[in-house]
Amino acid sequence: MIFAANFKTNHTRSSTKLYLDALSQKIAAKKSEDQVYIFPPATALDHYKGDFTLGAQNAYPTQNGAFTGEIGLDQLEEFDIKTILIGHSERRELMGESQEKVAEKFDFFKAQGFEIIYCIGEPLEVREQGDESVNIYLLEQFEGIDTAYEKLIIAYEPIWAIGTGRSATMEEIVSTHKALRKAVACPLLYGGSANPDNIKEIAAIENVDGVLVGSASLDAEKFASMILS
Ligand code: G3P
Repeated sequence: MIFAANFKTNHTRSSTKLYLDALSQKIAAKKSEDQVYIFPPATALDHYKGDFTLGAQNAYPTQNGAFTGEIGLDQLEEFDIKTILIGHSERRELMGESQEKVAEKFDFFKAQGFEIIYCIGEPLEVREQGDESVNIYLLEQFEGIDTAYEKLIIAYEPIWAIGTGRSATMEEIVSTHKALRKAVACPLLYGGSANPDNIKEIAAIENVDGVLVGSASLDAEKFASMILS
């Protein structure tokens, strides 16, 4: 299983260090095949060492340059960051990232050999139209994306389940991941109110290879309990 933690705009550089120290101790007994990824805020990307992979929540598709407020490859390379989240719904919706921009980022970081966790997800009104509409909507988010890229992981995160405490139902996850599996061969994560109470059930679903966790990942003990469950 893959366990990925997306801190979003939570934690500082110093609290991330404390978190990673605590997490490393707590997950020392994790199964060797389980993989842990942490996406802290950009200010906390550093040379932290441990049995986890540190990744960037976002970056601009450039080596460097005049892109106020962004970070590029130079800043990531300084800390050996080779993993990135692309296409998160918060970037698409709140920061107005178009599919075109998302695909441009994908291409750029693919060319740099990054491991990419690519996020897709539908809004509530689409989910309410049923599975078929959801599948069509999700496939549109593959426009311009090389889904055969060997370092790709896809995270299905229904927008209405993010940070709401209401995860998708097991039936919804089953049917969406089944449809995704027909379209792509890469590992598939589920994200959206995954937590210590529902992790076992989610992990047991066929075609779920891991989880991308927001709120429940912010506490090292809680996240460790998910990894060890
Ligand atoms: O990227 C993870 C995320 O969007 C899910 O957040 O808080 O629902 O676990 P949360």
